[in-house]
Amino acid sequence: MSVNKCDQPIGVFDSGVGGLTVLRALKDLLPHENFLYLGDTARVPYGTKSAESVIKYALQAGGALVKEGIKMLVVACNTASAVSIDSLMTAYSPLPVVGVVKPGAEAACLASKNGKIAVIATESTVKGGAYQRTICRMHSGAKIIAKACPLFVGLAEEGWTEGEIVEAIVARYLKPLFAEFGEEGPDTLVLGCTHFPVLHGAIAKVAGDKITLVDSAETTANTVKRILTELSLPNNSDAAGRLSFLATDSAERFSAVGSAFLGGAINLADVRSIDL
Ligand code: DGL
Repeated sequence: MSVNKCDQPIGVFDSGVGGLTVLRALKDLLPHENFLYLGDTARVPYGTKSAESVIKYALQAGGALVKEGIKMLVVACNTASAVSIDSLMTAYSPLPVVGVVKPGAEAACLASKNGKIAVIATESTVKGGAYQRTICRMHSGAKIIAKACPLFVGLAEEGWTEGEIVEAIVARYLKPLFAEFGEEGPDTLVLGCTHFPVLHGAIAKVAGDKITLVDSAETTANTVKRILTELSLPNNSDAAGRLSFLATDSAERFSAVGSAFLGGAINLADVRSIDL
C-alpha cells in the first residue's frame, strides 16, 4: 500500500527531552501534522561531548527516524544543529532538514535594538561558534558574547526549574556574562539550548525587564511551516495530528520528565524504547 507523503510524520530529535519545547511550538502552529519525536535519552547530554561524537549520534538518530518514514527532519537540539546540520543534510538529501540555530539567531536579531546579544548554550555549541557566526552574518555590527551553562541541562532534566537554588545557579552564570558587555549591557538573551526554556521564569527573574529572552522554538516552527508549503508537503487532513515518541532510555522516565517540556501529558503507550 503506498503511503501519501503528506501524511507522513515530521521527524524531530534532540539529545533528550529539551527538544519537546520545540515540538510544543510545532504542534501549536501545525495542529494537523503528525510528529515522531526521538529523544536520545541514553546518551544525553550531547553538549559536553566532542563534535565527532555528536555528529555520530545525530546521524544515528536521524537515520532511525528516516527508517520510520518521515517527510522532514527537525533537529530540535542546538548542539546537534551547530555541529552536524551539514552532515545530516548530506546524508539524507533530498529530505528537508531544519536546524534550530538559524531560526534562533533570526529571533535574536529581530529582538535586539542595541545590537548587544548574549547567548547561553551548551559547551559544545559555544565552542563551535555557530550562534556567533550566524548572528554576525545577519547583523554585522552586533556584539555577541556566548557562555556555556552546562548545569542548566541537568536542572531541566531533573525538573528543578524554579526556587532559590535554581535562581542562585542562574545568577552565578548570567551576572558575569552580562557584566562582560560593560555599562549598557545586552538587551537580548538567546536561550541557545532547547532545554533552557523550561527555566524561563528563573532566567527572566535574574535577567530583569531590560533584557528580552528569545529561543528558537517559534521561529523554527515558522521555518518548518514555510518549507512544508514550498514543497507542497502540508498534511491536508482536518483531524488533529498524532504525536508519537521514541526514546533510547526508559520510556517511563521519558513520559514522566517530558510532560513539563511539552506542556501536556505524554502517554506511556505512545513512547517506544529503541536502540540506536
Ligand atoms: N537540548 C540540547 C541543545 O539544544 C542540549 C542538551 C545536551 O547537552 O544534550 O543543545
